[in-house]
Amino acid sequence: MKKLIDFIIVENRHISNQYFLLILSPADSTQLPEIKPGQFVQVAVDAPDVLLRRPISVNNVDKENNRLWLLVRRAGKATSVLADMSEGTKINILLPLGNGFNTEVNSSDNSPCILVGGGVGIAPLLYLGRILKNSGIQFEYLIGARSKSDLLQLEHLQELAPVNITTDDGSYGEQGVVTQHSCMQNKWHKIFCCGPAPMMKAVAKIAKERHIDCEVSLENMMACGLGACLCCVEKTVKGNVCVCTEGPVFNINQLTW
Ligand code: FES
Repeated sequence: MKKLIDFIIVENRHISNQYFLLILSPADSTQLPEIKPGQFVQVAVDAPDVLLRRPISVNNVDKENNRLWLLVRRAGKATSVLADMSEGTKINILLPLGNGFNTEVNSSDNSPCILVGGGVGIAPLLYLGRILKNSGIQFEYLIGARSKSDLLQLEHLQELAPVNITTDDGSYGEQGVVTQHSCMQNKWHKIFCCGPAPMMKAVAKIAKERHIDCEVSLENMMACGLGACLCCVEKTVKGNVCVCTEGPVFNINQLTW
């Protein structure tokens, strides 16, 4: 059930010029609602010229400490305001929104799953990995980045599972894009994918050719986050749907890719 909650910024950790991690705690200590990996939140940014809430995917839910993690890319006025907010600032968040990944994985052939991410698309994969690990599901990561310095939260991912890496410039891992990584030849039970659309389409193509179950988290432009403005529409086999309410996670069989 969706809730509007005031959060306090416990930590605003700047990871690079472009990325920062907000660690948030409910201001009145209410318990965080149930959140599925792949769901997102809408953050109200209190600044002139910023009228709409910003959609941000859930990076992690730290249930033990009742904290929510949001990994954010500085990409405009609203996210720049968020990046400059100091610890102790109060922000209002609507959550959880959308549908998450289907984590009920039943691998009859014992082959592991693979979580494929590119850029800030790795954000939901940290929490997804935690949920899969807690459920005893075997998996590995495959992460693509432009360069070594663009790899995000590597130490957190490595705590959960082996991490395969590609970089465009070859500064870390194998050189190339994720679909060129040698591990793509392995047998995978299911692919979970989040990142830029061309990367997800290339991964979906391989999944279809090899009959691997595959879910992708779409990053369509969003405004209202509630199915009202229609700016996030995606064409599916059942017609046009709002990514904010019917997604952002879709099985590739639902898409017209
Ligand atoms: Fe408005 Fe999806 S963001 S309908």
